[in-house]
Amino acid sequence: MNPIREALCSRCGRPADTYLRYAKLNLCKEHFLDYILARVEDTVKRYRMIKPKARILAAVSGGKDSSTMLLTLSKLTGKFDFELTALHIDLGIDEYSTEARMIVEKVCRIAGIRYAIIGLEDLLGLSIPKLARRIYRPPCSICGAVKRYLLNLAGVEAGVDMVALGHHLDDLAVYILKNFLLQNLEDIRKLGPKTEGYDGFLVGRIRPLYEVYERDTALYVSFAGIPYQSLECPFHSVGMEDRIRAFLDGMEEDSPGFKIAFARSIARSLSKYPQPRYEVRRCGLCGMPSQSDVCSFCRMMMKVLGKPLGLELRDRVREIVSKL
Ligand code: AMP
Ligand code: FES
Ligand code: ZN
Ligand code: ZN
Repeated sequence: MNPIREALCSRCGRPADTYLRYAKLNLCKEHFLDYILARVEDTVKRYRMIKPKARILAAVSGGKDSSTMLLTLSKLTGKFDFELTALHIDLGIDEYSTEARMIVEKVCRIAGIRYAIIGLEDLLGLSIPKLARRIYRPPCSICGAVKRYLLNLAGVEAGVDMVALGHHLDDLAVYILKNFLLQNLEDIRKLGPKTEGYDGFLVGRIRPLYEVYERDTALYVSFAGIPYQSLECPFHSVGMEDRIRAFLDGMEEDSPGFKIAFARSIARSLSKYPQPRYEVRRCGLCGMPSQSDVCSFCRMMMKVLGKPLGLELRDRVREIVSKL
């Protein structure tokens, strides 16, 4: 009988630490890190994400995804000639947010990247759980809206060209398919690798992990010896997304690389999806993007605090990001 042979790294012949089915590659730790960096580099190039001399603000949550995004981008600043800084929003969700903030600070220090932190309690006097209780809405839906608003506001006030998000391939494939099933076709456009900004009040977004699997982000931080968030958000609930994820995982199991092919064809056909029917306007109170005279964030603040924060909030955010 043949002894079971140890798998060897396809690049250096040393014992392999992982096997990538979609690439049919056995890789040791070192060559896996190189491989993922090269994937991110290819993705940035393929979708022309970064213009020379651009200023990019990385949105970092403390999770493995955005840490992988920050670490890989930080190694590409010279190659693509751009400036990278980072921003974290402390959502005030008990130990979950305390751990996230600590990790973000560590990762930014390791990557040598200047960062700023917006604390919701300091900024609004309200955490996500308090905000959710006051307006009787599920924390997750408010959290998404608050993060989107503040990331854009911070990007505008910091004067950056693009905000980089840590969405990985597995999540993006789920969101795209969900929007297709619900026929929210306009929203599919927003899920591409790159979304252009608009007129100085809507910052463009890039997703450097558009073609990187979630499993690879976990391996990346672990092989690179980088800490990442161990706690799950206490408000996470199982929903439609998890069923779609299971379906897509099955497709990937049957044909490795399926999700990459899916994401690439979506990126190619993005322009065929309809544009939003509404015109992007400026909120009359804070000047941020809105579908009506007053944006949903200002309306939420009026409900909770009795007044919108409008330009006062912008001043405070400007001060926070001024150190970047
Ligand atoms: P999520 O919607 O929570 O899956 O997060 C998607 C992306 O938004 C992450 O990969 C980050 O780039 C960014 N993000 C999420 N949470 C935060 C946060 N608390 N602070 C800054 N950026 C965040
Ligand atoms: Fe926002 Fe869970 S991370 S509610
Ligand atoms: Zn190797
Ligand atoms: Zn507003």
